[in-house]
Amino acid sequence: MTTAVPRCTPYRIAAETWLVPRLIAAGDAGFVPVNSMVITGEQPVIVDTGAPMHADAWRQDVFGIVAPEDVRWIFVSHDDADHTGNLATALDLCPNATVVTDFGAWQRLSVHLPIPTHRMRWLNPGERLDIGDRTLLAIRPPQYDSPTTRGFVDTATGAMWAVDAFALPTPGEVYERSDLPPGLWEDLFVPFNSMSNPWLEWVDADRYGRHLDELAELPVTVAASCHGPVLRDGALTDAYIQAHAMAAKPAIPAPGQPVLDQILAAAGLQDPIPA
Ligand SMILES: [Fe+2]
Ligand SMILES: [Fe+2]
Repeated sequence: MTTAVPRCTPYRIAAETWLVPRLIAAGDAGFVPVNSMVITGEQPVIVDTGAPMHADAWRQDVFGIVAPEDVRWIFVSHDDADHTGNLATALDLCPNATVVTDFGAWQRLSVHLPIPTHRMRWLNPGERLDIGDRTLLAIRPPQYDSPTTRGFVDTATGAMWAVDAFALPTPGEVYERSDLPPGLWEDLFVPFNSMSNPWLEWVDADRYGRHLDELAELPVTVAASCHGPVLRDGALTDAYIQAHAMAAKPAIPAPGQPVLDQILAAAGLQDPIPA
């Protein structure tokens, strides 16, 4: 049986700041979010560009919030396909937009999606981008699955783009962590984020804790991400605690061949593996 994927619509998380939610069916886990974001300030910003499979809905939602010709910046957190899936479209439709990225993402994207050099600005962690009525402070997120990754904190609203950090499946159109079913966060935070951050197994917990402490000291009011719930107040503090607890602990193995065999068998494509 195929699970119907809800058609999500933009969700306002702060003043002039919209989460553009998308979901992918994930079997018994429910759905995995694949979000992007739009900031409609003096100089509007598209924050990541979603996945290719969501091209039509992404375009409708984003350009329902901001007119393409008004977009001034396209923030590309890193080069993964679920963050750059509609970058070519955005570049075509938004003639006044400059891509905010970095050297590494530009290099890695250049093999299939060259960004014109005159339409780029490179921003490294710790650097700030002045966009008129606000500043975006680039950060290295608390968790990440690509070395090129940068998030940011919007100094006007305190909204953080945490990119791939703090991922969690969702039962549907549920955006705030406070609205998730009880126990979901506690049960799945570690296994879900271990898949994207196996490197945490080898990090020094104290050193990593200092990075998390520095992030926690930033004036963040709300954290949004590509694959997880919206976090506010204590929920964000809890996310830092959970992430810190993963340091120097064995990574949880990702599903292996037995799970694929089950999927194939459920789809009638293969006999179940004999017990
Ligand atoms: Fe990623
Ligand atoms: Fe991602």
